This record gives sequence, structure tokens and C-alpha cells, in this order.
Amino acid sequence: MNKVNSTYLLSRVAIVFLFMSSFLITKAQSVVIPIESKQNAMVLQVTSEKRLAMVYMGNKLSDKNEYSSIAKAFRLKDNGSGYNSAYTGSGTRNLLEPAISVTHTDGNKSLDLKYINHTITKLNDDVSLVSINLKDSVYDFEVTLNYQTYFNENVTEQWSVIKHHEKHEVVLNKYASANLYLQADSYWLRHYHGEWAKEMRPEEEQLTHGIKTLDSKLGTRADLFEPPVFMVSLNRPSTEDEGEVLYGNLEWSGNYRIDLEVDPSNDLRLIAGINNYAADYVLKPGVEVTTPKFVYTLSDKGKGEASRNLQSWARKYKIVDGNGPRLTLLNNWESTYFNFDENKLAGILKDTKELGVDLFLLDDGWFGNKYPRNDDRAGLGDWEVNKTKLPDDIAFLTKTANEDGVKFGIWVEPEMVNPKSELYEKHPDWVVKQPQRPEYYMRNQLVLDLTNPKVQDFVFNVVDNLFKKNPDLAYIKWDCNSVIYNAYSAYEGHQSNFYTDYVFGLYRVLDRLRAKYPKVPMMLCSGGGGRVDYGALKYFTEYWPSDNTEPVERIFIQWEYSYFYPALASSNHVTNWGKQPIKFRTDVAMMGKLGFDIVVSKLSADELAFCQEAVKTYKQFSEAIWHGDQYRLQNPRENDVASIMYVDTTKSTAIMFNYLVNTRYGAGTNSPIRLKGLEPDKRYSISEVNLFPGTKSTIQDATYTGDFLMTVGINPDVHEGRTSVLIGVKEQK
Ligand code: DGJ
Repeated sequence: MNKVNSTYLLSRVAIVFLFMSSFLITKAQSVVIPIESKQNAMVLQVTSEKRLAMVYMGNKLSDKNEYSSIAKAFRLKDNGSGYNSAYTGSGTRNLLEPAISVTHTDGNKSLDLKYINHTITKLNDDVSLVSINLKDSVYDFEVTLNYQTYFNENVTEQWSVIKHHEKHEVVLNKYASANLYLQADSYWLRHYHGEWAKEMRPEEEQLTHGIKTLDSKLGTRADLFEPPVFMVSLNRPSTEDEGEVLYGNLEWSGNYRIDLEVDPSNDLRLIAGINNYAADYVLKPGVEVTTPKFVYTLSDKGKGEASRNLQSWARKYKIVDGNGPRLTLLNNWESTYFNFDENKLAGILKDTKELGVDLFLLDDGWFGNKYPRNDDRAGLGDWEVNKTKLPDDIAFLTKTANEDGVKFGIWVEPEMVNPKSELYEKHPDWVVKQPQRPEYYMRNQLVLDLTNPKVQDFVFNVVDNLFKKNPDLAYIKWDCNSVIYNAYSAYEGHQSNFYTDYVFGLYRVLDRLRAKYPKVPMMLCSGGGGRVDYGALKYFTEYWPSDNTEPVERIFIQWEYSYFYPALASSNHVTNWGKQPIKFRTDVAMMGKLGFDIVVSKLSADELAFCQEAVKTYKQFSEAIWHGDQYRLQNPRENDVASIMYVDTTKSTAIMFNYLVNTRYGAGTNSPIRLKGLEPDKRYSISEVNLFPGTKSTIQDATYTGDFLMTVGINPDVHEGRTSVLIGVKEQK
């Protein structure tokens, strides 16, 4: 190993530094590139043969000069076999899973990327971008690796930009976004599987030597079977507050692939990117392809801190209006399904007002005339208002909503088409299907070909026209109910570009919509939670976690999502799923963005009074739930009682949610549950909130120090007779 020199981000005011290998290497020094956040450092180093290696990921060091000694300490070999390559090529010396694999214009399949230079750009006080340019030594083929670090949040986004100047097209057989290298004694992976109404089921296992792949080949609603989020604990399974753990998410709403390879040195190689399954990407000379971002955070204080890192990053930088408020709502999907008309909806608008929520959301079934959308077999694609159900158009609904003093929102599913539709009749070539094979449907529908710019315009116009005609429209629910079968595009020149270009096409549409309507709230829905990832959430204010709203199920589903996504983005609706009382259902829905999907007129007087009061209570604590810190107190998988709390940023208001999740005899809270995230020296008053009319709390209102609440805790007294208990915590000044 050469003696190494390190280069750093020295100045807080300077904007861009450019580092050239020629200067540094001729001095017989290798380049060390530490990428630091508040707690962590990732260290990249150029080897003597100018390959870029990743030598460290962990707590940052106090003396930056010592980063150059890390490779030696870990006995990382500089022999070019490159297990720790920062972006592993293939067809030359690499023996393990590549991050990139190409077929050059001449058919040759080798790639050996060498370091050229790098720049460090300080984008603001919190965010900096390190871009490292690599080039093949034989072919005119280049890759720029980008590492954008959010210092205070301890979050990094990584992506690559690939281009070439070869004579003709080059085929990218694999083109990952990130290639990380971690060193520990053992690795524990928590990942997820699911199906409709069974989203986010976790599995945690020790990784053994070889490759574990997380992936999707579904095209759209791509995370239905396996979401692109995961965590890896180092050395031992991390707990809520202890252990080293890395969280990751590929910001991509299509086929993805994440390989976790424990290599012959017992180190972990992590390669994340677009799935190369049926997706060789044909790239013209001079054209750049930018891969999706892979976002990750590392914590040495367990899962709780890692999730708070990611949640605060998401609120600040990713989801739309993450620091803003959210609208409570009444949705009509489960109360009417397709069976409604103007009068019924006018009644529901009155109910919206009576309930005290902000908005009425009209769901599926409002469109289609030649093929009316009266069930899920027809009309999708024909976005004209159904004249029988709504003779006075949407305008009637926005006007009535205005008169009632509530807002109005609407459901769309603009990427899809029923074969029984005018759209399909007019534009069969806009539909994804194999020309010579029978059509195959999910929910009686097919996917529109978003690689085609005309289809992109059409989808954009579906939403744009709704806003143009109804300027008071205040909310969109964007659904996506089918995967892609029979992947074939009548538009694409290269079929293998289709899966990737579909998602680029979708993002192009969403970019246009957001440029025109930057703040309007939009819910990301996909037949439940089939499309939750940060690539899509960049355009949305919230997501629909699952069609499964049975509240005990929801505790488990919301719990797992909460590791990766902030509560204000989780649309939780009170419905009639399950046998739990309305209080339990509402308490569970309040742990995120509260909504209802019930027949308000069927509520008893007490139930209605409870819901009205709950909406007010929710507003009192919404600052803590939406923008505060979330602490998981007791895991539903290991305890009779699940407990979770939210503390606002000033640590003056908090709310604790407790639910009985075990119905066995005697199950409940026998001992106090320790609170977290409070100020030890402050005094807080404790009182039970959201009580059902006529019931009395068994918990006495009292005042305690934060120290007491976090050291001893409080017992919410949850048992068979009190299955859900909410406790408000307020600072006493
Ligand atoms: C699936 C969604 O998950 C539901 O909430 C509802 O909007 C239906 N689609 C409407 O078809």
C-alpha cells in the first residue's frame, strides 16, 4: 500500500474543488476521499493502479489524517481483484457480483474503470456533493459516481451517471446506482415481503456467504411482493436503541435489484440499482443515463435513531411539503364503492363537514360514458365525467364543498386502461401488450406505455385538465392497480429499454405536474401499498400503506413502514374492517395522516361525538405526529402491548399510543413503559386523551419530570377492558 495523502472539504464557503489524479499521483501519493456526515464517514481511496476502492464506512474519526491509515489497518489488498471496488466492473479482473457490466460497440464485454478526478461541491450548509469521474483505460466509456451527503441527517444519496463516446451504441447489461462495502463479523438483514393487504411483512436473518438478492420484476406497483427498503445490522441484530445498522432504499418505482454479497473476506458488498432483468439498456454515444438514487443512513445507536435520521431527511428534502400540514379527510371508497350519484355525494359532503375533517375525497367510479365505470371491468382511461352519476359535472361537487366549507379531492389512475374503454379502441398502440399473444390482466386492466411521449402527454393532461376545469380541486389520489404483464412497447426502438424508460416516462409526467402544481397534496396509492419508495414520494405528500385497514393488522404494517418513512406521509383511514371498536380504529389511524372511510350517518350519537372530538384532539397533537420525532417504545411482535410515541421538536408536547395486540388471557401492561425523547429536566403533565364518551380514565392526571418518565415510565393500563390508550404529554411551564 502506498503512503497516502488525504483531501478534504476544508472550507464552508468554497463551492467547488476539483482534484486531479495526475497532480496527486505523480507525487507517489494516492488519493483518499472521505465523505463525512455529522456522525459517519465513508472513505474512498484510489489504489496504486488508479482503481477506486471503498475502504471504510462507520463512525467518523476525530483526526481526518488518520483516514489514510484505514486500508492498512483492515489489510485491504491493493492487488486489483477489487472486492472493495467502489463501482465494480466486469470482464476484467473482477470475480464477484459487478455493479456495471457492458457490451461495447465492438462486442467486447470488458470494463476496467480508473480514477480520473473528483469534485466536491458544497450545495449549502447541510448538503455537499462528491462527484468522482472514472474512465475505462481502453474504451471511451465514462462513469461519474455521485455521493450527496446530508450532514445533519447522516444520510447519503448515491447514484451514477454513465456515458460513452464509442462509435455506435453500447449496451449496459447492468448499471447499478451504488456499490458499498462494509466490514463486520456478521451481517443481519431485515427485509420485507408482501401481497395485496399483506404489505411489509418482515423477515430478519443472518447473511451467509454468497449473494442474497432483493428484487422486483413487476414493472409497476413494483414493491407488491418485496419493497425496496431494508436494513442491515452489523455484528449482531440491532435493537431499537443499540447496535450498528444501515438502512437503504432505492429511489425507483420500477424493477429494482439489491444484491448483498458476503465475500470471501467476510466483508459485505452491497450493490443496488435498477434490475437488469430483461433490461439491457441500449445507450447512444454522447447520451448520459443517470441511475436512480440509492439513499442510506448508518447509525450506531440502533434502529430508532436510523429511522429518525431517514424520517427527518425525508421531511426536509424528499417528500412534497414535508414541513407543511396535512389535510384530514373523508373518503367514499369503502362506503359507496362505484355506487353513488350527485345526491349521495352531496350528503357525504355534509358528513365531511359534520365530522370536522378538512376534505372530501371522491374515489373511483366518477368517469366513463360509453363504458361507464360502474365496476372495475370498464371505463378506465375515459376520463370524462359520467353524465348519469354526475350530470352537473365535478363543478357541482366543488361548489357544494365550498358551500359546506370543506375542500374537495379526486381519485385518478391515469397510467392504466380497461380493454373495455374508448381509449383502448382509439389507441391500441398505447397499451403495453405482446402483439402476438393473448392479453393478460390484473384487475381487468392493462398498463399504458409511458415510454411514448404521446402517452406521457395524455397522462399529464388527465390531471392537468382536472385542475384547469376545477381550480378549487384540492387533492389527488393517484392509484396504480396493475403490474406489467407481457412487457412490450409499440413505441420503443429497443424493447430491452422498456422497463427502465417506463419509469423515466412516469417521472417525466410527475415532474411536469409538480412544476405546474408544486404543492397540491397527492396521495401515492397502488392497490394498497404497492409503490412506496422515495423515487415516487419525491412527487407526493403521502402514501397509502395498504388496503388492509383492520386496525390490529395496521399496527404491524404501519410499524414496519415507520422505520423508513415519516408518519405525516402515512395515510391512515378509519374504516369498517375488523371487529375493533371505533375508538381503537381511530386511535390507530391517528398515528399518521388521519382520514375516514366510513358511513358517517350509520355512526351512533356517541360514536359520532367521539370521532368529532378525535379530529380535534388529533389537531392538538398533529405538530408532534407530523414533524416531531418518533420513538418506538414496545414492539408488537414481542409484547402484548404495542407502544409508540411522538415528541414535537421543542420537546414540549408528546403523545403516546398504546394498543393491546394479544388477546390471550391476562394480556396487558403489567409494568410501566419508559418514554423517550423528552427533556429530563422539564416537568410534564400526563393525561389520557381520546376517551370514548361515557368512559373514565383509570390513569390519574399527574405531573412528572422527563427524567422520571424516561427512567421509570408510566403504565397506560392496557388490558382486555382498555384495548387502546392514548396519553397526552404536555410541558408544565
Ligand atoms: C385500490 C385502492 O387501494 C383503493 O383505496 C381504491 O382507491 C381502489 N383502488 C379504487 O379502485
